[in-house]
Amino acid sequence: MRLEKSKLLPLKKIIIAIDGFSSCGKSTLARQLAAKLDYVFIDSGAMYRAVTLYLIQRGIDHRDAAAVEAVLPQIYIHFERQASGNLTFLNGEAVEQQIRQTQVSDLVSPVATLSAVRRMLVQQQQKLGESKGIIMDGRDIGTVVFPRAELKIFLTATTTTRAERRYLELQQKGTPADIDWVRHNLEERDRIDSTRADSPLRQASDAVVIDNTNLKPEEQLAMVMALARMRIGS
Ligand code: DC
Repeated sequence: MRLEKSKLLPLKKIIIAIDGFSSCGKSTLARQLAAKLDYVFIDSGAMYRAVTLYLIQRGIDHRDAAAVEAVLPQIYIHFERQASGNLTFLNGEAVEQQIRQTQVSDLVSPVATLSAVRRMLVQQQQKLGESKGIIMDGRDIGTVVFPRAELKIFLTATTTTRAERRYLELQQKGTPADIDWVRHNLEERDRIDSTRADSPLRQASDAVVIDNTNLKPEEQLAMVMALARMRIGS
């Protein structure tokens, strides 16, 4: 029996939250899932990076919380979908390359501790998820941004594995980096992200934990796709 398209029930759209430590492959997994499910993918870390870039460009010291808060209304971040993935825009300018540079990586965790910055970005992130059908990765997505997300994944891997992956990624992009600096930067970001007072990196109690140290990307994708299909009900 063939079902006419008009008689098929529309698939339920859900929210998928992916949290975890730095360089666990959260964005790669989120991007792959979004392509498979035809969902929107949002890298929330890119938003914290864009704010950090803005502060650097304007010479604003992130330790001056009042000065940072004063300029937040001047920051507009949006994403544009391209075949190669999402591009991040800061006040209309494409900044995808710039937000990945070491200068931004070094400062983004302290900037992400600022409550005013978090309030502004969490509000925008929740707006992006209003019509569901979204996969967002970050540190507080399952705990703060979308505490009622239908599927929450918490990714982890050993520090050595994560540092090696990040180093290779930077090399492939032609960004000069030193493996010791990469490891130090990872550890430092994890420490700041996990110990900050406002929305620290935590595993949500209802998250599915995946340690991908010894998993191939396709194995991980198959595991999460199976979970997503269960939650979507297809
Ligand atoms: O995922 P990333 O490495 O691009 O994130 C950059 C920084 O932003 C990271 O140090 C933690 C912070 N961040 C956060 O505090 N909350 C999020 N939802 C996403 C990122």
